[in-house]
Amino acid sequence: NQVRSHNWTIVDKDGNPDGVFKPMMMINGQFPGPLIEVNEGDVIVVDVLNQAVNATALHWHGIFQNRTNWMDGAAGVTQCPITPGGSFRYKFNVTGQSGTYFYHGHQGVQALDGLVGPLVVHSRGEADAQPIPYSSDRVILLQDWYYDAAIGLMRDVLSPGVEDAPIPNTALINGLNQARCSDHPSRKCSTPQETSPPSLGLTHGGSHRLRFLNVGGYAWFQVGVDEHASLPVIEVDGTTVEPAPASALLISPGQRYSVVLTSDRSDKEAFWLRARMVTACFAEQKLPENGIEEAKVVVRYTHADNEARHENDDDGTILLPDTTSNLEFISICKDMSSTTTFTPSPPQPAPGSADHSWYLRVNLAIGDWRLQRGVLNSSSFRPNLKSPTLHRVLDGLAQNNETFIREGVNAAAFDPVSELVISHNAVETVDVVLQNMDENSHPFHLHGTQMWVLGAGHGYFPGYEALGLQPEGKGLLDPANSSIINNPLKRDTVTVEGFGWALLRFVADNPGVWLFHCHMIWHSEAGMGMQFVSRLDAMRGWTLPDEARELCDATEDELRKGA
Ligand code: C2O
Ligand code: CU
Repeated sequence: NQVRSHNWTIVDKDGNPDGVFKPMMMINGQFPGPLIEVNEGDVIVVDVLNQAVNATALHWHGIFQNRTNWMDGAAGVTQCPITPGGSFRYKFNVTGQSGTYFYHGHQGVQALDGLVGPLVVHSRGEADAQPIPYSSDRVILLQDWYYDAAIGLMRDVLSPGVEDAPIPNTALINGLNQARCSDHPSRKCSTPQETSPPSLGLTHGGSHRLRFLNVGGYAWFQVGVDEHASLPVIEVDGTTVEPAPASALLISPGQRYSVVLTSDRSDKEAFWLRARMVTACFAEQKLPENGIEEAKVVVRYTHADNEARHENDDDGTILLPDTTSNLEFISICKDMSSTTTFTPSPPQPAPGSADHSWYLRVNLAIGDWRLQRGVLNSSSFRPNLKSPTLHRVLDGLAQNNETFIREGVNAAAFDPVSELVISHNAVETVDVVLQNMDENSHPFHLHGTQMWVLGAGHGYFPGYEALGLQPEGKGLLDPANSSIINNPLKRDTVTVEGFGWALLRFVADNPGVWLFHCHMIWHSEAGMGMQFVSRLDAMRGWTLPDEARELCDATEDELRKGA
């Protein structure tokens, strides 16, 4: 096992990923942020120095943080933000998981201004254990992109009367796209001299693992490679699955999929890889007049001499692929698991019954205070940046404050108006029935663990009996239906479709405070989230590292910068 150390300085910097400049937040001046690549069992150490004008916190999306809840990076939940000029060392073990992850700013909407990058965890013996052997391994970040600073857009979103989130201006693949500056006369814009689009070289005749991550804040992506109709999926949010046939992917914000592409076409050498933002996921919103663009990169076969055999035309410019898209039009926005069966390998059976089942109604609403709010059971989440939930829980436990110890919905001890916190005292199996009361699909992400997807559909939750399950403590009604729990997909980001439901199960065995929220950033920032506190019994003896406490010494004003 190795220690993987990184030194990161967070800076404000103007960047022009597609040509158009905007104020961004970057790590060491880079965008996207540097790749963290480790083996399972390694220790990740990231020394963060915040040289930006706003306070920040970094979250490691999908990483369990077993026994290191205070390294989870959720501002106001597990830590106070790192103020301008401040520093913090994130240090955590990566055990019991492998696959494709990422990190992103978890203060306000900073991820949308560039504070995001990939994190890959290789499993031991990964190369030999593949059902489809592959010779190269690539990370492909997809994200929607706004030309205005997200922090300003957020203020607009929360202004009285505004009901819709802003529509992205464009999309990026691995932090790049190509805008025509003439289309944006009012913006500072400069396209690089190099006019050919970004390309991805893949050795001809090989198999290549492509790890797709949607690291954007709002748009779903539909992705495919022209004339490569077979893209078997081998990983979903860190869960290895038996190769599942697919010709394209549909990825919500926060989700990841690995596929294996075989570069075996003999008639052509260059193909478009297309990432299209799916307008159906924007519900009823009006789209910009010129529509929504797709981002493209060229997949180019390379040869043994490692040189792409570029087909040039007479004046020496590189010919672009002439391939056409096979992406189908999508009219309803839901997870791929409703159309493709994903079978975890090795199997990960779910417990046959739950100790608790929580029914959570989720919707966007114009609240009494005339702001658009995201709501879960009439509660709307706001991070407490000066006094994170984790600190309050530990202080409560230390003082034997029973309000924290009581099992169940426990809002009273927190924000009197609205903070929904559900705590569990021991290792317990927990069900969440998400009932979506609005037209938008919401991809819900759970920190700290994965969830089994036991079911999802349109309309109202049909009830456990209809699914062949019983809710609390009674196990299966009909063993014939045990396929539901035999080996269901387990992942960390699950969509509940518009006016639909999802039944999720997880084992609350990882001590700490874990945020559960919609990963469309406008929705989560408007409060579409809640917190689970797991294993109060195990948290009882915890002492936070001094450095974690010290972050909270800053003034409320400093901590709120960029929130
Ligand atoms: Cu990637 Cu709380 O999220
Ligand atoms: Cu949402």
